[in-house]
This record gives sequence, structure tokens and C-alpha cells, in this order.
Amino acid sequence: MAGINPYISKVHLELPKQNYDLTFLPMKQRVTVFSGNIKTDFDGLPGSILNSALKAGIDLDHSCGGVCACSTCHVIVRQGLESCNEATEDEEDMLDLAPGLEPQSRLACQCIPNGSQGIIVEIPEWNRNLVSEDH
Ligand code: FES
Repeated sequence: MAGINPYISKVHLELPKQNYDLTFLPMKQRVTVFSGNIKTDFDGLPGSILNSALKAGIDLDHSCGGVCACSTCHVIVRQGLESCNEATEDEEDMLDLAPGLEPQSRLACQCIPNGSQGIIVEIPEWNRNLVSEDH
């Protein structure tokens, strides 16, 4: 169940306006995110990369439950970062704690693509063995 962290500034929530493909590397698993079918009963902000991954059965690590209070959901957005919401200062602060930080790094629980283009995210190597797939 998605939660809200009362200690961080509110994220501007703009849900995807159209369907888009979300691809996870290195396993090259692609899921289609349907803009009219965003669920709030998975962790992470509605429409976030974490939320969409969990809905698709990709168990991306998210120790704090998707409320911007850890950095275990760190992903690197290899394509489509410009179609995602801006990272807040709180997200940047948490990202600073993540190993392997890159300029395109985001917290999957806070990063919401708007659907205007396909997104490719890479799960950092240190976190890969924690990822499992339900199917
Ligand atoms: S799951 Fe903890 S910050 Fe995203």
C-alpha cells in the first residue's frame, strides 16, 4: 500500500497523460504503462516508476515503502528523463546517499514519467540481485 512521508515537501503529481513503454535494464523487461489504469495500491507515488514496476510484478527494492526515506529504489534513467517530473530537494538529498550516483539518477518511487515518450531505466549493479520477477 502506498504511503505518504509527512516530513518531505509535496511532490507535484502529474500522472502520465498517455500510454508509454517502460523498459528495465539489464533484464530488458518492457512493460506498457496505461495512463488510464494507474493504481494507488502499490508502493511509490501514483504513476511512479516504482509503482509501475510493482504493478507489473517487478519487485524493485524499496526498503522505506516508497516514501522517499531511503535510496534503495535508485534507478538510472537512460532514456526519457526529460519527460519525468523534476526531482525535489528531498529526493536529491536521499539520492546523495545512493551508491553509483549518476546525473540521470532518480528514486523510482518519486519519478513520474508523463507518458510523452518511452522510458528506459537501468537498475544499478549493486541492487540487481535484489530484484526478482513474479512471472
Ligand atoms: S523506496 Fe525508499 S526512497 Fe524510494
